[in-house]
Amino acid sequence: MNILVVGGGGREHALVWKIAESPLVDRLFCAPGNAGIAEQAECVDIGAEEVLRLRRFARENAIDLTVVGPEAPLVKGIVDAFETAGLRAFGPSQQAARIEGSKVFAKQLMQRHSIPTAEFRTFTAPERAKAYLDMVGAPIVVKADGLAAGKAAIVCRTLEEAYEAVDRIMIRNEFADAGAQVVVESCLRGEEASMIAFTDGRTLAVMPSCQDHKPIYDGDRGPNTGGMGAYSPAPLISDELAAQLEREVLVQTVHAMNREDKPYRGVLYAGIMVADEGPRVLEFNCRLGDPETQPLLMRLESDLVPVLLSTLDGTLEDADIRWSERPTCCVVMASGGYPLSYKKGYPIEGLEEAGAMDDVVVFHAGTRLEDGQVLTNGGRVLGVTAPRRP
Ligand code: AMP
Ligand code: GLY
Repeated sequence: MNILVVGGGGREHALVWKIAESPLVDRLFCAPGNAGIAEQAECVDIGAEEVLRLRRFARENAIDLTVVGPEAPLVKGIVDAFETAGLRAFGPSQQAARIEGSKVFAKQLMQRHSIPTAEFRTFTAPERAKAYLDMVGAPIVVKADGLAAGKAAIVCRTLEEAYEAVDRIMIRNEFADAGAQVVVESCLRGEEASMIAFTDGRTLAVMPSCQDHKPIYDGDRGPNTGGMGAYSPAPLISDELAAQLEREVLVQTVHAMNREDKPYRGVLYAGIMVADEGPRVLEFNCRLGDPETQPLLMRLESDLVPVLLSTLDGTLEDADIRWSERPTCCVVMASGGYPLSYKKGYPIEGLEEAGAMDDVVVFHAGTRLEDGQVLTNGGRVLGVTAPRRP
């Protein structure tokens, strides 16, 4: 079959790397891809959010399955657009993707269905949000409702910071339409981990636990990034806690979406704070994590393609999904200055030597090829991941 992967970061390189091993694949494309992806797939110069151009490409190239990496096209409705044209795309529908696309929707869903999360209120007017802040005080978390490339949540230590967060989101419109509403929620203390599952809307296949590392510097210092690395499993998540989270969060959420007529198919990602008062959901994502996918797929022993197909077909119950016992770890190499401003276009040396190591896979994130030379092309550049399956 012909497969198209949508996206061009480290997560998509891991997807392409894993899918390329499948004997079911004839041709593998990736839009837009990157320099590393170009070694395993044919890169197509179409942006991940150009839904209509992607659909035309899929139709013209007899694509049997499209696998969508990032959240933005899912929230825009890429899966619905493909299905309308008789094309199969892996991921939730636009309505179901609201679980990530709107924090207000996600919080209210959790409230309606008793899924454990931090206490919150939602606001459409800045002065009301501030009046509430005066009442509850700091520390407090202010979040823009919509997608903001992982920057929508602002953890505020003081009331001044919280006021400033409301101003940034609702008055200075730094997040544009994503900031039309805010969620103000209580600040949880604890350690974070992720629970990620495939689901066809009936069956859940939970992946091993994993944890990403958000602050830029060692020792948990510096501003938050998209993730400077990840490992699996997360020692924080005992087998008992994993079973509890599956029951109380993942199963409940899939049921809740069914009951609200937004059947959920694809990957459901729950970001969890293991807080003193018990585990609480920080956020849902409607896709695989980046960089969590790199260590997770490195542990997946079975063929990914039938798993993706059975998720679409509603036959996940019968899928063969085996994970290696070996823990895996991905370390991100980032551009100086990231996650603030940074330069692009530096040549990258040593890729072949690193890639030749037995146990290591160097996934590319922000890279591009120019005259045979790999150049940096983003904040997160490479995701060095080990150990490869035996
Ligand atoms: P989110 O985009 O909602 O996952 O938030 C991004 C990051 O902000 C999380 O990974 C946490 O580190 C932090 N965060 C979000 N919500 C809270 C909360 N209620 N309490 C403490 N930290 C939070
Ligand atoms: N690494 C966090 C995320 O993918 O949302």
